[in-house]
Amino acid sequence: MLGRLLFVAALFVSFCGCQSGQKSITKDSFGSTGDGKKVDVYTLTNANGVQVEITNYGAIVVSLKVPDRNGEIADITLGYDKLEDYIKDTPYFGAIVGRYGNRIAKGKFTLDGKGYTLATNNDENHLHGGIKGYDKVVWEAEMVERCDSVGLKLSYLSKDGEEGYPGNVQITVTYLLNNDNELDIEYHATTDKATPFNPTHHSYFNLAGQGNGDILNHQMMINADRFTPVDAGLIPTGQLKSVKGTPMDFTTPTAIGKRVNQNDQQLVYGKGYDHNWVLNDWDGKMNSAAKVYEPTSGRVMEVLTTEPGIQFYCGNFLDGSNVGKGGKVYEHRFGFCLETQHFPDSPNQKDFPSTILKPGETYSHRTIYKFYTK
Ligand code: BGC
Repeated sequence: MLGRLLFVAALFVSFCGCQSGQKSITKDSFGSTGDGKKVDVYTLTNANGVQVEITNYGAIVVSLKVPDRNGEIADITLGYDKLEDYIKDTPYFGAIVGRYGNRIAKGKFTLDGKGYTLATNNDENHLHGGIKGYDKVVWEAEMVERCDSVGLKLSYLSKDGEEGYPGNVQITVTYLLNNDNELDIEYHATTDKATPFNPTHHSYFNLAGQGNGDILNHQMMINADRFTPVDAGLIPTGQLKSVKGTPMDFTTPTAIGKRVNQNDQQLVYGKGYDHNWVLNDWDGKMNSAAKVYEPTSGRVMEVLTTEPGIQFYCGNFLDGSNVGKGGKVYEHRFGFCLETQHFPDSPNQKDFPSTILKPGETYSHRTIYKFYTK
């Protein structure tokens, strides 16, 4: 078939002891950017019919289709049908954000005695890599097959001076879909000058199906006894505060909507949940971060990560102005994000784990979004 490349990998137990199971990856055109760069969309399908579409524009997850407890498949991420809409106006639907996920206060930091000024795009602050972050560039794409998964390896050279950051950073993000219904994201990067580096993934989930109501009924659990409180500009104060007795306590499963409108200073600042939680027992290895259950569909999403923090954002800025896939209108809190990361504004917070990547080092980060039903 012209213009369409199809790899069907029927994997049987082989020398590497792989599990058998059929999975596939296909590639189709997704259009081109204003400056004429061609962009594709890749469809990864596992043996259970779970499917993820990813484009190399912004390394964006365009859709993610998973079954409910009756086997009915629904697309559970917010986004657009067309590339033009991603280019025109998106609150980072499905994207990889970077060089630095979340905020750097006033877009300023000092590194090795030298001051740097970044692009500011969130009032006076720098957010998600600036005006043209990793979500707005075209990545090189390579289809990959591993014994238990199919995937897409995306590479991007983030040049010295981009959005004000020092150093040429070569980054790869590999999305893998395996037959355990896991979307596994591996990040690697190197640099030729010391730089802050803290990319993350920005899908908006709605486990009842995209466009299918708000997410307030989802039961959220976060494996964190502490969070990083913020000021009115959503910049961390530097404290690590106990969640005990606050609406930030998700140590047991709690509906997102139960306390989100409480008269609490942190919720007022965030206009709801828009905070970083400090994950328990961080040691750089894969660790449970969060678990979300949607009662009507029975879908469960579990998040595991090597990162020390997770930003839980419950779509407070969605206001019906984004018309998404299939004409669905995304109203207030129709999706939530769980962004695994180092803490916001770490370059200005001496007591937070460092986000500085140095020449000779390799950044690596892995996050899994795992799906099942109950
Ligand atoms: C941030 C929000 C921001 C949103 C962008 C989230 O990661 O924490 O404050 O509005 O991304 O749409």
